[in-house]
Amino acid sequence: MSDLRDRLRRLEDSFGPTPVVPVDDDHVRLFAKLEFENPNGSLKDRAAFWILKTGIERGDITERTTVVESSSGNFAVSMASFCHTLGIRFVPVIDPNCNAATEAYLRARCERVEKVTTRDATGGYLRTRLRRVQETRRTLERCYWPDQYSNTGALEANYRLTGAEIVAALPSLDYAFVGVGTGGTIAGLSRRLKESFPGIRVVAVDAAGSAVFGQRPRARRIPGIGSSIVPPLVRRAFIDDVVIVPERRTADGCRALLARGGIHAGGSSGSLYAAVQHYFTRRSVTGPRPSALFLCADRGAGYADTVYSDAWVDEFLGTDDDVTLMTTATPVPAG
Ligand SMILES: Cc1ncc(COP(=O)(O)O)c(C=O)c1O
Repeated sequence: MSDLRDRLRRLEDSFGPTPVVPVDDDHVRLFAKLEFENPNGSLKDRAAFWILKTGIERGDITERTTVVESSSGNFAVSMASFCHTLGIRFVPVIDPNCNAATEAYLRARCERVEKVTTRDATGGYLRTRLRRVQETRRTLERCYWPDQYSNTGALEANYRLTGAEIVAALPSLDYAFVGVGTGGTIAGLSRRLKESFPGIRVVAVDAAGSAVFGQRPRARRIPGIGSSIVPPLVRRAFIDDVVIVPERRTADGCRALLARGGIHAGGSSGSLYAAVQHYFTRRSVTGPRPSALFLCADRGAGYADTVYSDAWVDEFLGTDDDVTLMTTATPVPAG
């Protein structure tokens, strides 16, 4: 056990803050936080590390534990890498929306990968994946299921790490645009940012066809944000506005962010960038330019055959729906 704790400490030391960079914009002083600069290329390093750390410190995870988790990609990559460094077995449960490079990495790194292929009643794969997690757990003797949809480690990680880094990097902030999948990022960030910047508006960004903010769930093709359930962590977030982005607009946003901002990022970054453009072109902003920040959750390379492929976009993402802007009452946090 002490070896495991030593390895955990060394892993912790290998983390540093990710950069906050300015992005040229007509309406606001815009900043991108480059979460793809994390050691495994995405924002999910934060949650994965914190969940493992907490599990080890509590004694729920030992060298003999097998971690099993459902993820469409980034969380599984982070878990696979960290579990390998810590000497713990990891079984990811993935689905066909997992991009080819991620699946190849997981198969190279993990002895066992579970892939579901049947859609659930909502047209997505989440419920099928969660069912497979339970089936897989029954085949293992010492097993830990992080349950990233309700594990407050993700909230803690984003409160203490990502949120604290933004506060250290910027003297003030008027808007933060945050994508929602499990809700862990927005739950932790919104709490930390509102403590330091009480006037900030937190804008949640979700995918069209996701159930998180009350839409009817339907099949989606781009992994990252959106969910076919309402994740418990979302209720812990302080959210002022919600922008729903159709997948076609996500692809447009990725390309616009590359063309104007020079940032080659993944699908959810395109959603967030599209949401920023949409939000401020529909509001008259008076006085000094406000500041706004959005997260670039992962890199664009893994999306070369999807959101960056004209043929794929034309075949799968349909025509130009509008981005929908919704304003919600701030959910009351559970504590
Ligand atoms: C690319 C990408 N962006 C955003 C998110 C949303 O993060 P969270 O699950 O903390 O809501 C995820 C989650 O998997 C993601 O993979």
